[in-house]
Amino acid sequence: MTILAIESSCDDSSAAVIIDGKLHSNIVASQAIHQKWGGVVPELASRAHQQHIVPVVAEALATAKITKSDLNAIAFTRGPGLLGSLLVGTSFAKALALGLNIPLIDVHHMQAHVLAHFIDEPKPQFPFLCLTVSGGHTQIVFVRSPLDMEIIGETQDDAVGEAFDKTAKLLNLPYPGGPLIDKYAKEGNPLRFEFPTVEMQGLNYSFSGIKTAFLYFLQKETAKNPNFVEENIKDICASMQHTLIKILLQKLKKAAKQYKIKDIAIAGGVSANSGLRAELQRLGEELGWNVYIPQFQYCTDNAGMIAMAAHFKAEKGEFCGQDVSPMPRMAW
Ligand code: KG4
Ligand code: ZN
Repeated sequence: MTILAIESSCDDSSAAVIIDGKLHSNIVASQAIHQKWGGVVPELASRAHQQHIVPVVAEALATAKITKSDLNAIAFTRGPGLLGSLLVGTSFAKALALGLNIPLIDVHHMQAHVLAHFIDEPKPQFPFLCLTVSGGHTQIVFVRSPLDMEIIGETQDDAVGEAFDKTAKLLNLPYPGGPLIDKYAKEGNPLRFEFPTVEMQGLNYSFSGIKTAFLYFLQKETAKNPNFVEENIKDICASMQHTLIKILLQKLKKAAKQYKIKDIAIAGGVSANSGLRAELQRLGEELGWNVYIPQFQYCTDNAGMIAMAAHFKAEKGEFCGQDVSPMPRMAW
């Protein structure tokens, strides 16, 4: 089975080809235009997808050394995501499937982040827990099988990626700020500054309080010293990253204990964070976990993970009709 997968949920236009469960190409075109605005501008994102989608698909087919006539199905991200962005990928996928007279497979973006773990070895053993952390989501997912997942904890307000990006914005760093905080944090002292945190009930998270606390902290310090940020950027980033990672892993530890699971994975854009990767690895050694961390290229948005999810759906005969439409708030 040869499937072309398309991802266009936010600001990355991506296409991938998977053949019998093995990924043969994964092309990503990112959109630099949003940097200027300090965040993703939905209207600009959908216009950029319109420009990128044809060349990205052509390159994915060429890299996999196939042509359109070799395809057996077209997969696409149905949601969650930005409506205008999702519409580009969905419409393109529907038109191509219609033209080639082949079936369509709709994919849930967050399920695909989890299933990115099945692109390469080592693959997690079922059941496992996956901490899914991106710009829009922060969830602990209990994964029973490729298509049977349950959210057992999630953020009640902001996502952790948002906390990274908003922190960066307050520090006048360009969007997306997560990777820059990561970069500065590597050379800073994580214990220099302390930020207050609120423990949520059960396995849930909250990141809106820390954002506000950080704003007040900066206002107070810059009133005393206008060059505070420039002089302390590395320690500020290291301390903030350390706090966010501590919050994430505290609940993950609780979930692993409660569900008696030792196979633990991370997924989503924030799983590219080097501090989180290192701390999870260390915690895994301490607690005897089998830890699964995806390759960088499969952490942030990519169609390879959509292709992997589509492969599992195709195996079960889960196709969708031409009447399908995007779902910005798609439930699991
Ligand atoms: O999964 P993703 O590419 O898109 C969404 O589905 O949201 O995640 C994007 C998020 C952004 O908030 C970005 O700042 C964050 O992932 N991110 C990072 C790092 N790389 C990407 N956050 C912290 N450290 C990183 N190295
Ligand atoms: Zn994502």
